[in-house]
Amino acid sequence: MKKHRGKPILKITDPAIDEYATEHSIQDSEELKSLIASSDAELEYIDMLSGSLVGGLLQMLIKISGTKHVLEIGTFTGYSAIKMAEALPDDGSVTTLEMNLRYQNLAEKHFDESAQKSKITLIKGNAQELIDTLDDTFDFVYLDADKLRYQSYFEKVMPKLKPGGLLITDNVLWDGTVLNPLDQKAKAIADFNAFVANDNRVETVLLPIRDGVTIIRKK
Ligand SMILES: C[S@@+](CC[C@H](N)C(=O)[O-])C[C@H]1O[C@@H](n2cnc3c(N)ncnc32)[C@H](O)[C@@H]1O
Repeated sequence: MKKHRGKPILKITDPAIDEYATEHSIQDSEELKSLIASSDAELEYIDMLSGSLVGGLLQMLIKISGTKHVLEIGTFTGYSAIKMAEALPDDGSVTTLEMNLRYQNLAEKHFDESAQKSKITLIKGNAQELIDTLDDTFDFVYLDADKLRYQSYFEKVMPKLKPGGLLITDNVLWDGTVLNPLDQKAKAIADFNAFVANDNRVETVLLPIRDGVTIIRKK
């Protein structure tokens, strides 16, 4: 994960600790290792990809919760969709939403080549509009896109999440800038964190893993 989008990096966790934790956690399959290599070869930066520590956490939560049906908001090149699908039973599903044409094409290629292909459905378009059109309910939602609108996604997703279901949100520490939010994204994420921590419909734990991951459980 050598390339970065240009925002200042405050390492939430000491890089050596992060590396140690990653090394001592669930590892990526060979398929995912080659997806990372091919994404890196195709794109200027791939730091949007969740990575194996967050990916391992997603897999663990899916298995502990007995999740069958996952909704992902923000596919990128398909890493986390495949990672989550690997943890699902054979009759499980991942519905993943992506609006960027180039990423759609790369994800589609990776899904076509994947051992998890039959479990994954890529829906192309703006998640803000797409979510309202989904009839299904989900056990597990991974929100990893469009950081300015996390609160709006939360409200859109709540009716589609089963009681006891999990909503996992990534980048909730936004390189630590939520402590003193100056730009629009940092402010939006800080507002979301404050909102969700006080919302009686859910229980929330914010973990300082990588860029911050919140586990939200619908009561
Ligand atoms: C952080 S990346 C997702 C990374 C992916 N979950 C992974 O771990 O590989 C966010 C993705 O969301 C997409 N995105 C941003 N806003 C969106 C929207 N409104 N609707 C659908 N996709 C969106 C971006 O194009 C980008 O590919």
